[in-house]
Amino acid sequence: MPPTPAGSGPSGTRDGVGLRLPTPVLRLAEATDDDVAPLVALWTACGLTRPWNDPERDIEDARSTATSTVLVGHVDVAGAEVVVSSAVAGYDGHRGWLYYVAVDPAWQGRGFGRETVVAAEAWLAAQGAPKVQLMVRHTNVAAVGFYQALGYTDQETTVLGRRFPVAQGGPDVG
Ligand SMILES: CC(C)(COP(=O)(O)OP(=O)(O)OC[C@H]1O[C@@H](n2cnc3c(N)ncnc32)[C@H](O)[C@@H]1OP(=O)(O)O)[C@@H](O)C(=O)NCCC(=O)NCCS
Repeated sequence: MPPTPAGSGPSGTRDGVGLRLPTPVLRLAEATDDDVAPLVALWTACGLTRPWNDPERDIEDARSTATSTVLVGHVDVAGAEVVVSSAVAGYDGHRGWLYYVAVDPAWQGRGFGRETVVAAEAWLAAQGAPKVQLMVRHTNVAAVGFYQALGYTDQETTVLGRRFPVAQGGPDVG
């Protein structure tokens, strides 16, 4: 969780004397090596990691694949660049997909989630993707409200999957 020193904390909060604090600028860019550890911490804090997924490998795979990317949102906190948001975007040649959409709990509710998804959508559109979609776990009711606010609708589709045995050389993803 990033520090929020007086006068530079998240927008939408108050500084103790009833004044609204300035909105920090969210800077979105493709992930660098320096972002990997903060990203894993962000996803852990947001409950997006699962025992069967290796988040560092997920980052490495997305960064090393030409048609996918890891977008990271930073804000300046007391002169330090802090990772506060993310989205992994990938174009499979037919549709664009989003994964690991996250905003640090200390910075949620200030529009950073929307900004991050809009940037990921723009990246997908630039790849030629005509559509963006994503999967939300049934237990993640809050995320559905967020995506609906961004114009996403239920695609009335059941997602089916099958894990490839690692011995067959398939990716060990969940
Ligand atoms: C979901 C998440 C990314 C939203 O980020 P955020 O920065 O808090 O969202 P924003 O402030 O940008 O909200 C954008 C809009 O969504 C709306 N919204 C956000 N959460 C909502 C909810 N639970 N129900 C309804 N609307 C919601 C906001 O009111 C806002 O609406 P507006 O732009 O019309 O005013 C963030 O809560 C998060 O990281 N959650 C944990 C990780 C997660 O579940 N990720 C999704 C995995 S599929």
